[in-house]
Amino acid sequence: MNGTAELIIDGKTLTLPTVVGTEGEVGIDISTLRSKTGAITLDPAYGNTGACKSAITFIHGEKGILQYRGYDIAELAQKSSFIETAYLLIYGELPTAAELTGFSELLTENQMLHQDMRHHFDAFPPKAHPMSILSAMIHASSSYPSAKTRYKTLQEAFPIHAARLISQTRTIATNSYRKAAGLPPSYPKTNLKFTENFLHMMFSLPGEDYELNPEIVRALDLIFLLHADHEQNCSTSTVRMVASSQANVFASASAGVCALWGPLHGGANQAVLEMLQEIHREGDDGTKFLNEVKNKVGNRRLMGFGHRVYKNFDPRAVIIKEQCDKVLATLKKHDPLLAIAKKLEEIALSDEYFISRKLYPNVDFYSGIIMRAIGIPVNMFTVLFAIGRMPGWVANYKEVMDDTDSRISRPRQIYTGETLRSYKPMSERA
Ligand code: CMC
Repeated sequence: MNGTAELIIDGKTLTLPTVVGTEGEVGIDISTLRSKTGAITLDPAYGNTGACKSAITFIHGEKGILQYRGYDIAELAQKSSFIETAYLLIYGELPTAAELTGFSELLTENQMLHQDMRHHFDAFPPKAHPMSILSAMIHASSSYPSAKTRYKTLQEAFPIHAARLISQTRTIATNSYRKAAGLPPSYPKTNLKFTENFLHMMFSLPGEDYELNPEIVRALDLIFLLHADHEQNCSTSTVRMVASSQANVFASASAGVCALWGPLHGGANQAVLEMLQEIHREGDDGTKFLNEVKNKVGNRRLMGFGHRVYKNFDPRAVIIKEQCDKVLATLKKHDPLLAIAKKLEEIALSDEYFISRKLYPNVDFYSGIIMRAIGIPVNMFTVLFAIGRMPGWVANYKEVMDDTDSRISRPRQIYTGETLRSYKPMSERA
C-alpha cells in the first residue's frame, strides 16, 4: 500500500508519496520538498527522520522487538553464534556449513596485523584510552595491504576487508589492553574460535595459557552478538555518512568507533560501572543517587537507562540480565555492584519520573557487570561493544556501496546567525 500525504505550506498543498516498509512502518517521502516549495524539514537529532531504506535490522521500539535480517534477537541469542550472526548481517542469509567455514577461514587468514603496525602501538602513551587506540589503528590499517590475500578490484576486496575489520579489531583491542597493562603483545591461535581467541589474547601470559571456561566464552559471545547491529543509531549513521562520500570501509568504521565512544552511546557501559562504583563508594543503596537524578542535580542521568527507540523494554537487556546471573553463579562471585544495579532497577521501574518518560534498562545496564566478572577492565567495555558492532557497521557500509542510487549524505540547516553585515576595522570593534 503506497499512499500519499498532504502538506500545506502558505496555502499551497503539496502531495507527497508515502513509503511503507516490510514491517508496516510508514515514511513520508519529502525528497522533492525543497525543490517544489523552498522549505526544508527541521528535525534536530533526527528523531523523526528516516535517513535511508535498509534491509538489515528491524526495531519496533514500543513492542521491544529487535530482528536481524528477519530473525528475532532472542532466537539468534539462543541458537546462533557471533560469527554466524556476523555473516547473516553482512551477507543477508544464514550461512550454509561451507559458507560458514569459508567465512571463518577468511577471518583466521586476516587476523594478524601487519608487523609494521607495532610502531603505531608504540607511539601511544601507556595510559591512552583503548577506544582512541582502536579508532586510530583501524584507520591506520587501511594504509597496509592485506598480508596474505591479494585482490584486483574493490568489489573483490570487500569480503577480505570485512574479514580484516572483524578479526583485526579484536587483535587491536586485546593488544591495546596489553600495552596499557605493560604485558607483551599476544597473537591469535588458529585453533581457537573468535571469542575464545579474544579471551586468550587478553589474558594469556608468556608460558601460561588462559584457561577457557565454556560458560564465560558463551556469555561473551552473546554480548558480541547482542551488540552486532542496531539500525540507524549514532555510530552506524556515522559509518553510513562517511561511506556515502565513498570513503573506504576502514575510514568509515574508524569514524563509527569515534561516534560510539560517547557516554550517551556505547560509552554508557563504562559510565554505568563508574556510576555503580561511585554509589557503592558513597555507601548509598541507590536511593540518594536516584533522587539526584530526578531532581536533575548536575544533570545526572541513570546510566544504562532510557533509549531513543525502545519505549517499553530493550529486548537485549532482558537476555543479558539473565546471562549476568548465570555468569556470576558460574564464577561463584558475589558482586555488591549487582545488588546496587538491581536496587536501582527496582526503584526506577516503579517511580513516576522514569515511568512517565518511558525509561527502562538498556543493553548497557547489565553487560558491564558480566564484563567486570570476567576480568575485563572498565575502560575496555566500550571496545567490546565496538568488536560486537563491527559486523553491523560493515553490513551498513556494504548496503551503501551496493545501492546504485546512493548519494552523498548532506543535510541542510536553518541558519540562525547574523544576516549580511560589513567588515569592521579593528579600531571600531568594542
Ligand atoms: N536518566 C534520567 N533521565 C533521563 C534518562 C536517564 N538515563 N534518559 C532520559 N532522561 C530524561 C531526560 O532528562 C528528559 O527529561 P525531561 O523531559 O524532564 O527533560 C527525558 O528523559 C527525555 O530524554 P532525552 O534526552 O530527550 O531522550 P533521548 O531519546 O534524546 O536520549 C538516551 C536517549 C539513551 C541518550 C538517554 O536516555 C540517556 O542519556 N540514557 C543514559 C545513557 C545510556 O544509557 N545510553 C545507552 C543507550 S543504549 C546503547 C546504545 O545503543 O547506544
